[in-house]
Amino acid sequence: MTLGKFDFNNPKHLNPIIDRVVELWSPPTDDMVFRRLYVEAIIRQNAAGNDMQFQLSENGEIRSIAFASRLGEHTPWYGWWQEKFNSLPEEYQKMLSLSRSYLSLMDEKTYSYMDKDDVKLSLFVSVKSGWGKPVLEGAMDFFRSRGFKNLYLWTDCECNVDWYVSRGYELVEEGTYEPFSYDEPYKTYIFKKPCKETVQ
Ligand SMILES: CC(C)(COP(=O)(O)OP(=O)(O)OC[C@H]1O[C@@H](n2cnc3c(N)ncnc32)[C@H](O)[C@@H]1OP(=O)(O)O)[C@@H](O)C(=O)NCCC(=O)NCCS
Repeated sequence: MTLGKFDFNNPKHLNPIIDRVVELWSPPTDDMVFRRLYVEAIIRQNAAGNDMQFQLSENGEIRSIAFASRLGEHTPWYGWWQEKFNSLPEEYQKMLSLSRSYLSLMDEKTYSYMDKDDVKLSLFVSVKSGWGKPVLEGAMDFFRSRGFKNLYLWTDCECNVDWYVSRGYELVEEGTYEPFSYDEPYKTYIFKKPCKETVQ
């Protein structure tokens, strides 16, 4: 299987990923247009605009993505974000700002563990079960070929945390994000895996 590059200008790339995560990662309002925008902002914030925005497709349909960033890399989509933000009512602006602050905080926490020859998995989504592993395997081959030592990532209770646990990722830090802790603690996790190991 050959990895391709994810293209933000291609709705056949972006829309299926939004469809996959919108129920998981957006606030439960009735406004689906806002919910889709909210998760699109998450996807774009996790894209560093580098050579590590991988996707796998089957018969022209996107199946999975894996985005990564080098130490200190940040999203180039700030202009996009600001424009969308300015067009929203105050209530939605608050939600978008909270999300942005949370993602930035977790990114910086994760970077604080990394050396410059480590890499961060910043987004990992499979639209169809069975396609997560091969896209990450392909990404790992790329990381090894570039001499990266360790893969770091952060995740939380709205994600498939057990996927990493069951594959032997090392838990580096476990935390609680208070602003999102309503009825229950909102758990966050930072994991690590040497790039020389296989995905399993
Ligand atoms: C995490 C994710 C990318 C994994 O992709 P995937 O396609 O489900 O995983 P794989 O390619 O490894 O293949 C699926 C296999 O893993 C198993 N699997 C999926 N989630 C699992 C879990 N939490 N624990 C153990 N096994 C799991 C499936 O049952 C399946 O097994 P099978 O081959 O025996 O049928 C996918 O669950 C996903 O997109 N989740 C939503 C977004 C997310 O949470 N992303 C990651 C954190 S930010």
